[in-house]
Amino acid sequence: MASHLIVGISGSISSGSYNTKLLRAFGELVPSDVEFRLLEGLDTLPFYSPDLDGENLPEQARQLRETVRAADGLVVASPEYNYSYTALAKNAIDWLSRPYGSHPLVGKAVAVIGASQGLLGTVRAQLHLRDVFHATQSDVLARPEVFVTQAASKFNAEGHLVDAPTRELLASLVDAFMDHSGRQETAQVA
Ligand SMILES: Cc1cc2nc3c(=O)[nH]c(=O)nc-3n(C[C@H](O)[C@H](O)[C@H](O)COP(=O)(O)O)c2cc1C
Repeated sequence: MASHLIVGISGSISSGSYNTKLLRAFGELVPSDVEFRLLEGLDTLPFYSPDLDGENLPEQARQLRETVRAADGLVVASPEYNYSYTALAKNAIDWLSRPYGSHPLVGKAVAVIGASQGLLGTVRAQLHLRDVFHATQSDVLARPEVFVTQAASKFNAEGHLVDAPTRELLASLVDAFMDHSGRQETAQVA
């Protein structure tokens, strides 16, 4: 069983999402003793409302909170929509940001990455996400930053990240995030 768990949130439910592909590439690059789990079903979470929180908490929201609380780290990859990240990602983060003061994002190691088909590679969306994770008192990895520009040219037809410099940059982020999220390297037994 993996001793270290990293969960991923994609801000896109597009079937060909570059951000989801980027998260899959992240998952391919984690060391073998680390489990990477892409969180599914975020599009069926109701919009956050205090009326649903507490006694009426939807089971899906309860599970989301439990999974993220148990994880050692969270990585978010969101498209940029109108100069920010997506409503889908915001809704998941809002659910994760309560109960106030003791929610799963307090102190959580977080990495922010993103891919776009344009030239800015989600720069503005990532800056907004960093602000939000400041509000949630999360511990965001500062560097390296991964902005995947012109994404259509970086993934192959099967959805694999094939652009070597981008893969290398992502690998260096994964490496930094393993330390940032407190992974203890286990000694290899010959
Ligand atoms: C409603 C909407 C707004 C968008 N706004 C931006 C934007 O502000 N900046 C940008 O670079 N791309 C923008 N795009 C393009 C998407 O970010 C781009 O298509 C991206 O690849 C989508 O990510 P995905 O492939 O993970 O779904 C927008 C797309 C949509 C549908």
